[in-house]
Amino acid sequence: MQTDFLPRHVAIIMDGNGRWAKARGMSRAQGHLEGVKRVEEIIKVARDMGIGFLTVYAFSTENWSRPHDEVSMIMRTFILVLGQKAKELRENGVRINFIGRRQGVPQEVLKAMDEAAIVTKEPAAMTLNIAFNYGARGEIVDAIKSIACQLNEGKIKDDDIDEKLISSCLYTKGQPDPDLLIRTSGEERISNFLLWQLSYAEFYFTDKCWPEFNKEQFLKALDSYAQRERRWGGVKV
Ligand code: IPE
Ligand code: IPE
Ligand code: MG
Repeated sequence: MQTDFLPRHVAIIMDGNGRWAKARGMSRAQGHLEGVKRVEEIIKVARDMGIGFLTVYAFSTENWSRPHDEVSMIMRTFILVLGQKAKELRENGVRINFIGRRQGVPQEVLKAMDEAAIVTKEPAAMTLNIAFNYGARGEIVDAIKSIACQLNEGKIKDDDIDEKLISSCLYTKGQPDPDLLIRTSGEERISNFLLWQLSYAEFYFTDKCWPEFNKEQFLKALDSYAQRERRWGGVKV
């Protein structure tokens, strides 16, 4: 695959853990555990291929509405997996960055996140954004608050507000926008993910559930992306 056709930033809505498990007579928890294995697999493939930024949607601000048992299972698994894998990822050139609101996240989860996100001096081959307690509208609200604050303090004027300034106030500041958005499980919606950043992304939907989304499936998505003609509102020359 030619690297010109490789996305710089891939964002993934990892959906369908529950349905995958149900179809096999397993619990939703087992679906999430199988899903964790696929995230690990896809992180490695993306890093090895030279993708600079990978953003995975792990838990949305809306996911708190799930049954208490499921939420608490996801929190425990998250703490466990971060504790087991973060160091190894760092050693393999992956910089972990969390995007989302800290407010509302249990203390022990925040602690695991802070330990996982330690920045090393080594330059990272890939930035892994883990969207946790993430909601895109909330992110935009946070950006607007920060801009209002800068205005009130006289640090900026009305005319300084432009797309660049707004981008720089988002959780993904300093990063290129996603080129490719993948969503598994057959759903074709954004579910409050990266509303601002996805404005020119290519979308790839697959019926495969997240626990089935292995290296082969990921390569298929990249192949589909490589065949897209991105126009950015212009015309083909
Ligand atoms: C995605 O799988 C994982 C999270 C949202 C945490 P789901 O748990 O949404 O699985 P389905 O959509 O119910 O099958
Ligand atoms: C989106 O999946 C959130 C994550 C993958 C973390 P959901 O399963 O929560 O989305 P909806 O409810 O189908 O829109
Ligand atoms: Mg779902």
